[in-house]
Amino acid sequence: MTQKNPKPRQRDRESETDSDSEQLKIRREKKQRRPDRQTDRMKNIPLLLMGCGGVGRQLLQHIVSCRSLHAQQGVHLRVVGVCDSKSLVVAPDVITRELNDQTLSEVCRVKSNGSSLSALGDLGLALVDCSASSETIGVLNQVVDMGCCIVLANKKPLTSTMEDYDKLVSYPRRLRHESTVGAGLPVMASLNRILSSGDPVHRIIGSLSGTYFRKALIQCTLGYVMSEVEDGKPLSDVVKAAKNLGFTEPDPRDDLSGMDVARKGLILARLLGRRINLDTIKIESLYPDEMGPDKMSVEEFLGSGVVSLDNDVQERVKKASLNGNVLRYVCVIEGSRCEVGIQELPKDSPLGRLRGSDNVLEIYSRCYNKQPLVIQGAGAGNDTTAAGVLADILDIQDLFPSEE
Ligand SMILES: NC(=O)c1ccc[n+]([C@@H]2O[C@H](COP(=O)([O-])OP(=O)(O)OC[C@H]3O[C@@H](n4cnc5c(N)ncnc54)[C@H](OP(=O)(O)O)[C@@H]3O)[C@@H](O)[C@H]2O)c1
Repeated sequence: MTQKNPKPRQRDRESETDSDSEQLKIRREKKQRRPDRQTDRMKNIPLLLMGCGGVGRQLLQHIVSCRSLHAQQGVHLRVVGVCDSKSLVVAPDVITRELNDQTLSEVCRVKSNGSSLSALGDLGLALVDCSASSETIGVLNQVVDMGCCIVLANKKPLTSTMEDYDKLVSYPRRLRHESTVGAGLPVMASLNRILSSGDPVHRIIGSLSGTYFRKALIQCTLGYVMSEVEDGKPLSDVVKAAKNLGFTEPDPRDDLSGMDVARKGLILARLLGRRINLDTIKIESLYPDEMGPDKMSVEEFLGSGVVSLDNDVQERVKKASLNGNVLRYVCVIEGSRCEVGIQELPKDSPLGRLRGSDNVLEIYSRCYNKQPLVIQGAGAGNDTTAAGVLADILDIQDLFPSEE
């Protein structure tokens, strides 16, 4: 019989082979989805995004476009909510699902014992602050104790009072803020590696100028201004042209005040352990107090104010040039000193060679003593900033449990 009818067997073998290859395919796909070989499980990271401006929107686009890459890495970024300054959008299951009865009983048990709800476990949520607001500081302070992770592009929470700062960094493993200085450049990662190896950093000098992004142009406002002035153009012409080109904030004094650079300097100084505040940083503004926004309109500043600064700046450029130097708007952290302003620097130093829109940071430590560690590249732009935020989120994945 069997000899007479070999076809069904063959068919069986074929279908076995089919099913084998199907199984193999499924196993392969599963492996691709779950490459965490030790546990064979996916990491599921719930995110709440605060701020959906240029950086926030770009982050969401990165998350969507990286879905298959992240699946291969065994990670799923689950955005459970997004908020702007006035409203919050949350995942529908937050509205339709509920805590089960067992959890409700546990809540009652924990509270009747006089304990905190944190006894039920960490919240297991990452809060991502891509706002430009200091209003988020309150909520960030609260979630620190709830076991949440925090990822910041926003500089303001880290440049608030020392008390707020201490609270925010109280669980350093749960905090990432690479994009607050130099956008996507690996500034924090490099400094943390140097510091954790016991190599003391004694000096940082960097051109970390505030930047502006419009119509696909990314420019370091102060980098642009200093480059143009060095080429012999009057400061007033450069500032007016920069404003017309859309390289400045609507009021160019927001860029020229140096406040944004000072915030970055403070973040770096505090990382090095300096217990200082924004008001202890010496900031050289490119305009005097009597030309401030409370004394003069933007039109008056651009019309008559900034012109009166031309000669002084031109003199400084000439003097620097006679010394073989160039002028750069930099942030310097050395010992207890943290200063922001114009400095004369050797033409052939990494900062002296800088042209255009890059950020440059020179780090001096015991290991990088005569020759500094130099980090250079685009220090702004929604794309690179959001990429830095995304890398930070992936960097904390080990703090989230794997799921079947
Ligand atoms: N762009 C860059 O190159 C760059 C580089 C490094 C770091 N950063 C930092 O990244 C952050 C975002 O920059 P951006 O250019 O995206 O700014 P942006 O376009 O001005 O967007 C800011 C967003 O924050 C929201 N927001 C304001 N107050 C809020 C609050 N209390 N709670 C929640 N959201 C709030 C705004 O909401 P509304 O729309 O309702 O006003 C807006 O969606 C800033 O802190 C910036 O300094 C930017």
